[in-house]
Amino acid sequence: MYSRLIGTGSYLPGPAVTNDDLARRGIDTNDEWISSRTGIKFRHLAAENQTSSDLALEASQRALAAAGRQVADLDLIIVATSTPDYIFPSTACLLQGKLGNQGATAFDVQAVCSGFVYALTIADKFIRSGSHRCALVVGAEVFSHILDWTDRGTCVLFGDGAGAVILEAADQPGLLATALHADGAHHGILSVPGSINNGQVTGDPFLRMDGQAVFKFAVRVLAEVAGECCAAAGIDASQVDWLIPHQANIRIIEATAKKLKTSMEKVVVTVDRHGNTSAASVPLALDEAIRDGRIRSGQKILLEGVGGGFTWGAVLLEY
Ligand code: UT7
Repeated sequence: MYSRLIGTGSYLPGPAVTNDDLARRGIDTNDEWISSRTGIKFRHLAAENQTSSDLALEASQRALAAAGRQVADLDLIIVATSTPDYIFPSTACLLQGKLGNQGATAFDVQAVCSGFVYALTIADKFIRSGSHRCALVVGAEVFSHILDWTDRGTCVLFGDGAGAVILEAADQPGLLATALHADGAHHGILSVPGSINNGQVTGDPFLRMDGQAVFKFAVRVLAEVAGECCAAAGIDASQVDWLIPHQANIRIIEATAKKLKTSMEKVVVTVDRHGNTSAASVPLALDEAIRDGRIRSGQKILLEGVGGGFTWGAVLLEY
C-alpha cells in the first residue's frame, strides 16, 4: 500500500503588498534592502478577521476539485499551522466543520515552517498502515497576525496563505521516502515566546528571530535532509526533477541548491511573490508548479521544510 498525490489547491488573501507599500505604511525599510537580502518583492496579507481556517477552506476546496473528490470522501484532515484560529479546537476541526465533513480523523500539526512536510509524512504513514484512504493535508498561516510591525528585521519577511493536497491510497508510489528531524536545543533562535495565563498574555506574543543563526542552520540542514531522503529512496539528488524548498529567503534557496549541485532551473521559487508563508509555503509552490504545467506526471519532486523548533524534513514523491 502506498499514498499518492491526486490533487492540489492554494489560496492567497487580499491584494499583493509591495515592499514600497510597507515603507509607505511607516516601516523604516526600502525595496532595495528587502529585495537584495531576501528576494521578496511582495506578499499577501490577510484581513484582521481572516483566519487560517478561512484560507485553508479555499485551498482545500480547490484541491478537492482538482482531485475530483468529494468532501465526504475524506477520512483524514491534517492542518499544519503555527497560527491556529483558537488555542482549541484545532484548526483542522474548524476546517472540517466549514467543509461539512463528518467523522474524519482531524488534527493540527505544529512544526512551524516544516509543518507541511511533517503533516504530509504523517498522512503517508496513516494511509500506508491501511487505517485511512483519503487525506486532506493543508498548510495554512496568517503570520501577519503574530508580527511586531515595529520590528523591521522580521515584519517584512512574512506573508499569509494556504496550500492543500489530497493524498490517496494507491498500488503504486506516490511518496517514495520521507525524513523528519528536530533539535529543541535551538528553540530560542526563532519563536513566539508567549502564552496565555489566567486571561493575560505572559511573555512576548510576537515572532522573534535571530536571522543570521536561522540562515546558517537552514542552509546546513536543508542540504543534509535532501541527501538523506534521496538516499532512502535509492536515488541521487541529480535525479530529482523539481526541488521545492521552504520559501524563506532566495539566498537560502540558492545556497541549498548549490550544495546539492542542483541548477536553479529545477527549483520552484515563489518567495519573491509570497514572502515566507511558513507551513503554507511548500504546498503553495507545489500547487503553482503543477497548475502552470512545470511539474508533469512521472516526475520526481523533493519537498523540504525548515523552521522553528528547530524542525526540518523532506518528502520525495513521484507525481
Ligand atoms: O522560516 C525561517 C524563517 N527565517 C529565515 O529564513 C530568515 C533567515 N535570515 C535571513 O534571511 C537574514 O538573516 C535576514 C534577511 C533576516 C537579515 O539579513 P542580514 O544580512 O542577516 O541582516 P542583519 O539582520 O545583520 O541586518 C543588517 C542591517 C542592520 O543595520 P545595521 O545595524 O548594519 O546598521 C539592520 O538594522 O540591516 C538593517 N535592517 C534593515 N534595513 C532596512 C534590518 N531589517 C531591515 C529592513 N529594512 N527591513
